[in-house]
Amino acid sequence: MGKVTTAVIKDKKLKKEKITMLTSYDFPMASLVEAAGIDMILVGDSMGNVVLGYNNTLAVTMDDIIHHTRAVVRAVNNTMVVGDMPFLSYHISTQEAVRNAGRIIQEGGAEAVKLEGGTERVDTVKAILDAQIPVMGHIGLTPQSVNQFGGFKVQGKDEATARKLIEDARAMAEAGVFALVLECVPTPLAKRVTEEVDIPTIGIGAGPYCDGQVLVINDMLGFLKGHIPKFVKKFANLEPIIMDALTAYKEEVEMGVFPAPEHGFTVDAEVLDKLY
Ligand code: KIV
Repeated sequence: MGKVTTAVIKDKKLKKEKITMLTSYDFPMASLVEAAGIDMILVGDSMGNVVLGYNNTLAVTMDDIIHHTRAVVRAVNNTMVVGDMPFLSYHISTQEAVRNAGRIIQEGGAEAVKLEGGTERVDTVKAILDAQIPVMGHIGLTPQSVNQFGGFKVQGKDEATARKLIEDARAMAEAGVFALVLECVPTPLAKRVTEEVDIPTIGIGAGPYCDGQVLVINDMLGFLKGHIPKFVKKFANLEPIIMDALTAYKEEVEMGVFPAPEHGFTVDAEVLDKLY
């Protein structure tokens, strides 16, 4: 696989080739994602939930995103890296938005940024694009609006929110985003948006007709027990495997089984003799 760029992503829609994206937050995971040939890594503010232990994404900071983006970027050659713009990093003014997007590119090393919102973010997207920074849009269930939505709810189930979704998709496409995440959107509505806009749609809980798919990697690998969203398929179930390893380690250390001779280092007897 060659280097994935925004042009490659847009071209995939024209060629009707599906686009793959996963989140990653650190070097080892990003190395595996690159080795698997996934098109894009999103250093998502979902790190708030799956890495940093918060209940939502609102506490994630610019410094968190930059720190994790740098680790991911060090792991990849071909995979395109998109850095997520955290809550309040693009809401206060377009100037602040451009500066923060620039930090994700300049300090983090990402190749594009993602931000949440529709018609209300058009000026922000245009300002960031003016600074030559590619932007990925994100509409539907936008987790940074969880308090306004009153919870994590599927968007577009009634006429008003369905119309708003279509309007947001059009606005983002016209503003110039290179791709658009559709999160928790009914399948037929995601199909309609995908057919209507000429930029690729990347679905998460938005059915099979999107131009690509994204998942939070910790969820799809089954890293932790507990609630995962209905739209996630667990492609692996790592939690019991990791627990078995941790339990075995504890038992073997406590019983003196680990470390075994082969895990230790030798030294010449004459060196030891000189010590006494
Ligand atoms: O932060 C994130 O991981 C995301 C994806 C769910 C699209 O925004």
